Amino acid sequence: MAHLKCIECDGTYGVNEIIYKCGNCGGILEVVTDLEEVHKKISVNKWSDTSLSVWRYADFLPVNDRVNIVTLNEGGTGLHRCKRLAEKIGLKKLFIKFEGENPTGSFKDRGMTVGISKARELGVSTVICASTGNTSASLAAYAAKAGMQCIVLVPAGKIGVGKLAQAMAHGARLVQVKGNFDDSLDMVFKICERNNQIYLLNSINPFRIEGQKTIAFEVTEQLGISPDCMVMPVGNAGNISAAWKGFNEFEAVGLIKTKPRMIGIQAEGASPIVNAYRKKQRTIEPILSPETVATAIRIGNPVSWMKALNSIYDSKGHAETVSDQEILDAQRLLAQTEGIFAEPASATPIASLRNLLDQGEIEKTDSVVCVATGHGLKDADVITRIFGKPIEIEADIDAIEKSLNLLVKYDKWLEDPVSI
Ligand SMILES: Cc1ncc(COP(=O)(O)O)c(C=O)c1O
Ligand SMILES: [Zn+2]
Repeated sequence: MAHLKCIECDGTYGVNEIIYKCGNCGGILEVVTDLEEVHKKISVNKWSDTSLSVWRYADFLPVNDRVNIVTLNEGGTGLHRCKRLAEKIGLKKLFIKFEGENPTGSFKDRGMTVGISKARELGVSTVICASTGNTSASLAAYAAKAGMQCIVLVPAGKIGVGKLAQAMAHGARLVQVKGNFDDSLDMVFKICERNNQIYLLNSINPFRIEGQKTIAFEVTEQLGISPDCMVMPVGNAGNISAAWKGFNEFEAVGLIKTKPRMIGIQAEGASPIVNAYRKKQRTIEPILSPETVATAIRIGNPVSWMKALNSIYDSKGHAETVSDQEILDAQRLLAQTEGIFAEPASATPIASLRNLLDQGEIEKTDSVVCVATGHGLKDADVITRIFGKPIEIEADIDAIEKSLNLLVKYDKWLEDPVSI
């Protein structure tokens, strides 16, 4: 039987307790899966009957009764071999795991299907989160599907319009908090303290991480082996920890022999984990006013920092920053070489690759999986800000041909479509 364990003092708790932090020391919790039990089950269950998805790995997930599962068909996202992009960067085997293919357009759905299913199992009727956008979109959708009330707190004016629209469309009670994400999360903790019937579904909730660990299972099955490196954006630091947990569990039940190096990428203006890594520290110094164009990872005091640092150190991985300009360039490069439109935060791994190669942190011949965590349409404002307004012309063939600049070589036009 699975149980909850504090990652700092090893205190244990039952999976049916509503608890987010250790009662002894305040440390964050993780689900400890009974891997011997899983090992027995997976040798009996036939995975081949189930398509690639979060619930293909139900044996690894802490939902007691399958009737409680709330699903929108999450997971099963593509692992795209990116030859054109790889060539531009100087890599041989580059893959993008495109999490924008999930039902609400981000990896959060993997965690939310498990989190909401657990909420149903626990009998709660109201769920809450603080969000830089994607969590609110996902929670609102899953709460709607489950018939639960959803409350969402977001930093005012600092989330992509598409994400705000999703949360509103799915009927969330939405509050824009004057402050940053860390302030919103602080408020959410306080609301839950005062109202213990409201269930918190940020990634500090260990059941969220359980769903998100399935990305490691899928990547392994899609490649037939673990990659050499997993490069992932880091914000509140749950997802990189989740993926590392997944690789460890697959190893423990004998499904893989090697595990990847976990490489976490943050934006220059919001990089408490990278700062700690650079000083080889096991603790972070929060950043009071984080700032980046990648609003999804505009977080100065990540809740799961300890899990993330453990993942990076234990996997002999690395942590690196990228500038806003590098993020925007990488977003465009990915969209224009591979047809994958990812949001700015999701482009941070691509933005880091040349630098990682130069530093010798990755080898030319390594198999590298970059996780593109969310869809670009969620934050389309960024694109219109960069490209400006497309030109408008009368329906006149000469005028249109002239404006299309058909004599200019396409490569050149792609470099600078606005000013040519
Ligand atoms: C698109 C996107 N990428 C990356 C992240 C960072 O994930 P985590 O907070 O688990 O580190 C987020 C978190 O909101 C996100 O929305
Ligand atoms: Zn503890």
